[in-house]
Amino acid sequence: MKKISKGIILAGGNGSRLYPLTLATSKQLFPLYNKPVLYYPLTTLMLAGVRDILIISTERDLPAIKNLLGTGEQFGIQCSYKAQTSPRGLPEAFILAEDFLQQQASFLILGDNFFYGHQLSSLLEQSIAVTTGAHLFLHPVDNPSAYGILETDANGCIKGIIEKPATFVSNLAITGLYIFDEQASTFAKQLQPSARGELEITDLIKHYWKQDHLTYSMLGRGYVWYDVGTPQSLLQVGNYVEILETRQGLFVASPEEIALRLGYITLDDLRKYIDKTPQCTYRHYLENLIHYAGHKNRI
Ligand code: G1P
Repeated sequence: MKKISKGIILAGGNGSRLYPLTLATSKQLFPLYNKPVLYYPLTTLMLAGVRDILIISTERDLPAIKNLLGTGEQFGIQCSYKAQTSPRGLPEAFILAEDFLQQQASFLILGDNFFYGHQLSSLLEQSIAVTTGAHLFLHPVDNPSAYGILETDANGCIKGIIEKPATFVSNLAITGLYIFDEQASTFAKQLQPSARGELEITDLIKHYWKQDHLTYSMLGRGYVWYDVGTPQSLLQVGNYVEILETRQGLFVASPEEIALRLGYITLDDLRKYIDKTPQCTYRHYLENLIHYAGHKNRI
């Protein structure tokens, strides 16, 4: 079975749409209900089976992000860090990550992207299996002009890839989660900046499309995708997580829980981690995981 062990979280940018919230800190460190925004893309990568993760952010924000995630050992993963000195576009991630990738395929996820849905990990596994070059994850949206958009014909064949189309072509947004093969760094270096002066992820994707090495998966109605790049989406997703967690008593995007369930850490590792955690709702949740470990019908 094909596996991808490396992943990049691009957590850079100025967060200008969230100003003045982002005056002193990065949006990836904001609370999304009861966890930092970064926990959500981090756990999406973990659910994809990725354990070797490079986090790219600004020089200003990297120290705080390192304080948050450290080596990643507590989650049974390996976190490393790289600074992006100015926002030159998403494909720059592959130029900065060239040494880290060691010519291997990888996942790229944007640090403000939220994914939720039943059996997401199976969908991610299946996507890895069908990828020959690059792979996209599409989700229907009501405001396609805010995103990269994929246009298909009636049979689902790709007809076009447009970054933030001014007029309607399709409602299928290209979400901020991508699989790219080992050639991504080489192709990224060949890209030219767009009119807004940045390398565009859609140009990198087109490169694969032209070679007929582009596939996609649909994140249909049973999934939720958001980028939390505006005050409104931050609030909406925070409310969504609060509703789910309060109703089910199950946390969304707890890296400790996911690490335990995937066997990245043991119950003993979790116990040691809990000992260092202050008395709070999060600690009580982790204690319950230990209490119910092995219970057949406990989801
Ligand atoms: C970026 C990409 C866009 C993608 C979006 C997903 O846009 O350029 O193709 O659909 O992320 O979050 P940005 O959020 O940087 O405007």
